[in-house]
Amino acid sequence: MASISIRDVSKSYGTLPVLQGLDLDIRDGEFVSFLGPSGCGKSTLLFCIAGLEEISEGAIHLDGQDMGRIPPRDRNIALVFQDYALYPHMRVRENIAFPLQQQRLPAQTVQKQVAWAAELLGLEALLDRSPAELSGGQRQRVAVGRAIVRNPAALLMDEPLSNLDASLRVRMRTEIKRLQRELNMTVVFVTHDQEEAMVLSDRIAVMDAGVLQQFAEPMTVYREPANQFVASFIGSPQMNFLPGPVAGGGMAATSLLGVRPHDLSPTRRPGPDDLAVEGTLTLIEPAGPVTFLDVTLADGSLVKATCPDPRAHQPGELLTLAVARGSVSVFNADSGVRTGALAPPSGARVRDGVAEAVAHRT
Ligand SMILES: Nc1ncnc2c1ncn2[C@@H]1O[C@H](COP(=O)(O)OP(=O)(O)O)[C@@H](O)[C@H]1O
Ligand SMILES: [Mg+2]
Repeated sequence: MASISIRDVSKSYGTLPVLQGLDLDIRDGEFVSFLGPSGCGKSTLLFCIAGLEEISEGAIHLDGQDMGRIPPRDRNIALVFQDYALYPHMRVRENIAFPLQQQRLPAQTVQKQVAWAAELLGLEALLDRSPAELSGGQRQRVAVGRAIVRNPAALLMDEPLSNLDASLRVRMRTEIKRLQRELNMTVVFVTHDQEEAMVLSDRIAVMDAGVLQQFAEPMTVYREPANQFVASFIGSPQMNFLPGPVAGGGMAATSLLGVRPHDLSPTRRPGPDDLAVEGTLTLIEPAGPVTFLDVTLADGSLVKATCPDPRAHQPGELLTLAVARGSVSVFNADSGVRTGALAPPSGARVRDGVAEAVAHRT
């Protein structure tokens, strides 16, 4: 297994910059996701690591070795594509064996490696089937088998689960994580699905328009998003943004308060460390373990909150919503950069959707 170091990497297609000055250090045995909206450059970066695309600037090192100097054949990096393209005329056995056959390894070694991969992935009973005789999930497992069979230094996966239906996707992601832990593999996983990235990754690299926004552990990205883009992209439903306290009593709001719907709930009496906001309940969405509430504030803006049981509420009801101040992120309204959490002592109360600073009481 291997570490991957991405140093000041940029790439353009003609005059179109696709990757801009990316710096990332992926540790040996780490599971890292590249997460971002479609077109932000995730696949391009992955293909650059695999050596399928050339970088315009910077360097990529695999275990300290400059990738530019390693011929693609000797890179020992496996790639699983979104459409895993098995060879239709080959049985599962030959599909998995293919990379080893290419290396002209002895038949006995091939057989042993295929048996090992098949056992790891629960494919023993399917080895003599053709791809047409497999379900989507089984095909996906064969593609993973073909990727890991030669014991690669790193496994790169480009949205490998996006062609599967929802329940299978959840099962397969658990299998991929188990496999990664079992083999202590370095995995780079591309996805646009924030939940997938959250549950799988040791660290997530959040990208937007070819620029790295944050590279951190899932809960850090969730709780301390570097900026408004990351805050909006991670978490579902999206974080609420409210106008923040006006610093120094000026006219323009200089900060935004970010509140996750899961942290904001109806209350009778907000606690001393809470931020409270009042509004009218306009929509109730029961989702099972939690119910989402749309609440319209006096200024007409809408916030999403949560409660445990929809039966406790009626549309039209006047609600006071509260959130612990420590869970509220403060963003610079101009740059979008997160400056911290709402500090407990300063306090603030939101009325009509606008927070007012409240004098610090000692
Ligand atoms: N071969 C190419 N020629 C020109 N532009 C490309 C090429 N491949 C990708 N792009 C552009 O680069 C950007 C990033 O693409 P991609 O890495 O596929 O994004 P993602 O995987 O995040 O959806 C997109 O704007 C895409 O249109
Ligand atoms: Mg892509």
